[in-house]
Amino acid sequence: MSHFYITTPIYYINAEPHLGHAYTTMVADAIARSRRLMGDDVFFLTGTDEHGQKVERAAQKAGVPTHEFADRIAGRYQALFRVLDISNDDFIRTTEPRHIRAAQELWRRVRDRGYLYKSSYEGWYCTVDELFVPEAQLIDGTRCPTCGNAVERLSEQSYFFQLSRFQEPLLDLYRSNPEFITPEIRRNEMVAFVSAGLRDLSVSRTSFKWGIPVPEDPEHVMYVWFDALTNYLTAVGYPDDEPRFSRYWPADIHLMGKEIVRQHTVYWPAFLMAAGLDLPRRVIGHGWWLMNEAKMSKSLGNVVQPQGYVDRFGVDALRYFVLREMVVGQDANFADDTFLARYNADLANDLGNAVSRITTMIQRYCGGVVPEPSAAVPGPPDVELIRSADETIRRAKHAAGMFDLSSALREIWSLIAAVNRYVVTREPWVLARSPESRELLDTTLYNAADVLRIVAALVEPVMPSTTGRILKMLGAAGETWAGLKPGTLKAGATLGPIEPLFPRMEHTVDELRRMADTGAAAPISADASSSARVAEDKPVVTPSAEGEKITFDDFMKVDLRVAKVLAAEKVPNSRKLVKLSIDAGTEQRTLVAGIAEAYEPEQLVGRTIVMVFNLKPAKLMGIESNGMVLAASPDGGKPTLVGFDAEVPPGTRVR
Ligand code: MSP
Repeated sequence: MSHFYITTPIYYINAEPHLGHAYTTMVADAIARSRRLMGDDVFFLTGTDEHGQKVERAAQKAGVPTHEFADRIAGRYQALFRVLDISNDDFIRTTEPRHIRAAQELWRRVRDRGYLYKSSYEGWYCTVDELFVPEAQLIDGTRCPTCGNAVERLSEQSYFFQLSRFQEPLLDLYRSNPEFITPEIRRNEMVAFVSAGLRDLSVSRTSFKWGIPVPEDPEHVMYVWFDALTNYLTAVGYPDDEPRFSRYWPADIHLMGKEIVRQHTVYWPAFLMAAGLDLPRRVIGHGWWLMNEAKMSKSLGNVVQPQGYVDRFGVDALRYFVLREMVVGQDANFADDTFLARYNADLANDLGNAVSRITTMIQRYCGGVVPEPSAAVPGPPDVELIRSADETIRRAKHAAGMFDLSSALREIWSLIAAVNRYVVTREPWVLARSPESRELLDTTLYNAADVLRIVAALVEPVMPSTTGRILKMLGAAGETWAGLKPGTLKAGATLGPIEPLFPRMEHTVDELRRMADTGAAAPISADASSSARVAEDKPVVTPSAEGEKITFDDFMKVDLRVAKVLAAEKVPNSRKLVKLSIDAGTEQRTLVAGIAEAYEPEQLVGRTIVMVFNLKPAKLMGIESNGMVLAASPDGGKPTLVGFDAEVPPGTRVR
């Protein structure tokens, strides 16, 4: 069995977690879960970086002892990661005794091998911010760029790490392991940085106390990055637990945002080489989530809180969105309208509908039992679907193996599209009408359900609870990726209760914007600047002003028909929705319409309406709607049904 060790950065605890921190942890979680499915012995680490002056100051500001403050924020991180379904094997805090021991041991090793020396650190010092300011950053050569106060010349005793000795070894490392830094753009940046020359690094401080004491010289505390990076060793047993340490070290992946790739690909390997320890295999620097074109960060006040999205859409929807939307290496903008669009299109429509449609048909046509496929009937659509499933398994596994979850998801969605096409081609509802098509019907529904099982298994790293829910509906058990192949769904299994996976969200983007505008409801991101952005940057576009022109042929694709309402009832728990049974001339159908605020059900029965007849079915509050009722919707007013001034029989086309 191979061992696989993956880490996230340990997060600073001077402020509350936001979507940026959640993102890295969700990506690492998906990678960890995919490796477990591939059969690896995985160790997945995350945690908090608790030392340093920033933390000391934040605690003072909050008026609580530093360790209490640390407990509080570390607790917030742990709680958030539970909400996000993170499967970490350990959560490390740098204030733990095990870590202090490890950092001091690493220090001794580096010192004893001759890479540390004591000297004075001289420079321009700001006594207000208590930091050295590089000369090039001074305002007018005399003032601090942060607070504007005059700086003074100061020298502080400090230990230095001989980083300058590692220029060649580091360049060698990058050359001989091109994958050590990914993506390539980060690698090029680091090659340029190191090639420009390296200066020795100050690795201790005497100006504050909230840190790990330097061994044998406790006046000094360690520079926070020396302390922090060591966490990756601590958690796998360094220095006491040799068997565990050699099982997981070196780490397979250190995952992080691009701004701290330098510490991980220059300082960290240099410290490790100095200590004579193995180097991590790969450092991945992902892009940033932006808001208003700026990096989402506490100091800019443009952060998204993950909780709001989890509450409204479910944790798997958030995990899906961030993993699908951000291509590793590039920045991505977090916007409510893209979130909603992806949710409705990919989750409610593609995946959700496929599952509910197929399970509902097995319920209806096969007595709720997975049918036995027949060897006699497969035709081109079956062969094509199975080929597509085989191909998707191969490609999604490959992409996940390259840590590219976004591509893996794209592959899986093409299989969902394939199964939806397959069902449309086979028309099980037509097959169900004649007993002689029984075998073909059974084979069709078996193959479709079998593909859903494969989809469920493949989305597991990204959407673990969705996997469980789909498999339960199919009466199937969980499985690893090792033997995943088409045709192994158990026939004869009884389906579990059918439940909607991702109910369509009725808020249109405009509705969300209006909510943001009027403050009628909090925007999803629950953050003032994001609502401002939605309101200002994207004025509501009126269709007449900006609407795209369509051709006559486009219009003729819309099949509008007259229908008569046979029965109507309010949809439970919905203010707006009413469920209608209608006679469309050639058939009866169920529609769900958003007109309950304007019409009582009894007013509707017997009424003639106009409907879009060829609309794709959609689930609204768990009810499948097969078509859409036309009504005028005046701004701020109630909808009014479209009608005729003469009797028109059901089924008549409207043009
Ligand atoms: N404590 C250091 C890391 C030490 S690791 C040995 C640190 N902490 S941090 O709290 O600032 O977290 C930074 C990390 O949080 C980023 O590298 C990234 O993983 C994540 N992100 C924070 N904001 C982010 C975005 N706006 N977008 C994407 N990821 C973000 O640095």
